[in-house]
Amino acid sequence: MLKVGLLGAGRIGQVHAVNIAGNLRSTLVAVADVYPEAAEILAAKYGAEARSVNDVLNDPDIDAVLIASSTDTHSDLIEAATAAGKAVLCEKPVDLSLERAKACLEAAAQTGKPVMIGFNRRFDPNFGALKAASAAGEIGKAELLSITSFDPAPPPVSYIKVSGGLFRDMMIHDFDMANFVMGDRPVSIRAVGSSIVDPEIGEAGDVDTAVVTMTYADGKIAVIKNSRRAVYGYDQRVELLGSEGLLQAENMLENTVVKSTTAGVASAKPTYFFLERYMPAYAVEWEAFVAAVLDGAPMPVTLEDGIAALAMAEAATESAKSGQAVEVTY
Ligand SMILES: NC(=O)c1ccc[n+]([C@@H]2O[C@H](COP(=O)([O-])OP(=O)(O)OC[C@H]3O[C@@H](n4cnc5c(N)ncnc54)[C@H](O)[C@@H]3O)[C@@H](O)[C@H]2O)c1
Repeated sequence: MLKVGLLGAGRIGQVHAVNIAGNLRSTLVAVADVYPEAAEILAAKYGAEARSVNDVLNDPDIDAVLIASSTDTHSDLIEAATAAGKAVLCEKPVDLSLERAKACLEAAAQTGKPVMIGFNRRFDPNFGALKAASAAGEIGKAELLSITSFDPAPPPVSYIKVSGGLFRDMMIHDFDMANFVMGDRPVSIRAVGSSIVDPEIGEAGDVDTAVVTMTYADGKIAVIKNSRRAVYGYDQRVELLGSEGLLQAENMLENTVVKSTTAGVASAKPTYFFLERYMPAYAVEWEAFVAAVLDGAPMPVTLEDGIAALAMAEAATESAKSGQAVEVTY
């Protein structure tokens, strides 16, 4: 049984608490948050204790820590938790600075403790099946990947200001998805961004609509499209063209009813947002982490994977500003 401390009792911390407590091989021992009341409310739901971060890290009975706190705390907490002998699952992104993330990798590696990064979309059954079919050679050699990733509505500008920008905060998931599906990392990235949804996002120095094209050493191409607004719901699709066919993972809909009348054919909207779409993926992600720690298997998503996605986000941010293609340095 894996004894777990949860750091961060916000939006995603609450999702992880359900899965830690619900998994047969893990138990939620303690919750910590800089707002003690948030930790107390969440801990009470699962019969866990509310504690300080230090008290969680210094408890020799706690085997693993799930870091679901704000992005600017991730590197520091990964270092502190691994130094304290804990296995770690940390939410994306590793950091907003690539340099800081690389220093974190070095420090964590010295402890020998396993670290997984929470790229939950790898555990979505649709994307998992697409990847498996491609890896099995079912469409020949991969040639052109297209990822569509639109949020239903933009977050408040106060969030945008501390998010690190669309490429680090939002497209980071798609960079990792490209690495996962392609089994390869691009050498060059070209990005175009615009603040067409909300001019205030532009005034805050960010974009809300962006397209990235990526090229690979062997000539493959990937395209990622992001928008902070899709009025019909959370649009999450992946399409991979290969030398012998096409794979497409479509949206999950609110229900499967299709209405056909003289007016036309209509189906339900995509599920509203990430909590609705990816709830099963978060559970599978946690299951994979628990299995890796308890069975001593390699982590299915590593700190290096987190750093690769961050390097791509930095290159895209630079390219959107300069208008030039940027070579990615990992
Ligand atoms: N994988 C995903 O799908 C996904 C989805 C949402 C958020 N996230 C990531 O998860 C992280 C949290 O996002 P959120 O939406 O839950 O934010 P949130 O603001 O709702 O929650 C963050 C919580 O962390 C607490 N916190 C801040 N500093 C702390 C510290 N030093 N120690 C302990 N607790 C601390 C805050 O008080 C807050 O309660 C972000 O890095 C975000 O990028 C990932």
